[in-house]
Amino acid sequence: MMIAPLTVDRIPDVEKLLALGEPYIKLRGSSDYWLYAKLFSTTCPVAVLNGEVVGCVIAFRSQDDPAEIYLQDVMTHPDHRRRGITRALVDEVRRQGSRWGCQRLYLTSEPVNRPAHAAWLALGFVNVEGDSQVDGVSLISNYKGPGKHRAVYECLIGS
Ligand SMILES: CC(C)(COP(=O)(O)OP(=O)(O)OC[C@H]1O[C@@H](n2cnc3c(N)ncnc32)[C@H](O)[C@@H]1OP(=O)(O)O)[C@@H](O)C(=O)NCCC(=O)NCCS
Repeated sequence: MMIAPLTVDRIPDVEKLLALGEPYIKLRGSSDYWLYAKLFSTTCPVAVLNGEVVGCVIAFRSQDDPAEIYLQDVMTHPDHRRRGITRALVDEVRRQGSRWGCQRLYLTSEPVNRPAHAAWLALGFVNVEGDSQVDGVSLISNYKGPGKHRAVYECLIGS
């Protein structure tokens, strides 16, 4: 398996892959992926196996707080899960963050997404304490705007 930054030629494959991530992943427009490939490729790694894109992470370093990287989407093809693909992709983003001197990776998740919850904890993320709990997952109310309650996970990284 190869881990490489997202490139424009791989956008159609990435879109096909992310379309399989419903309902936890919302597919964005093609020009959004162009932006990720052109401006954010080092934090948007793809996993390629036998020429096929089997996983990807879409993440961005914050301009408001450059010590932070936000992971927007994380996806492994359903036929290739539990084989360490997300682990390898997140490790790549973590290494990049470390090279930049960043201190924190973070992401939001839906509390009903149990595989994701298990994956974040296994990868060293902590579920940030919020103001309510659903099935043992801590939620921060209105995190992404009115009514948009989210489970927030963070992982501190060293440089
Ligand atoms: C969550 C998701 C990204 C995990 O990807 P993955 O490539 O299967 O994850 P990995 O193989 O790297 O798993 C690393 C560890 O996480 C944990 N884990 C991952 N999936 C798990 C599951 N379904 N149940 C329990 N633990 C799980 C395990 O500890 C695993 O290590 P192990 O297989 O050695 O036990 C994948 O299930 C997925 O694409 N889901 C759909 C999209 C989505 O929900 N994305 C997240 C929201 S943005």
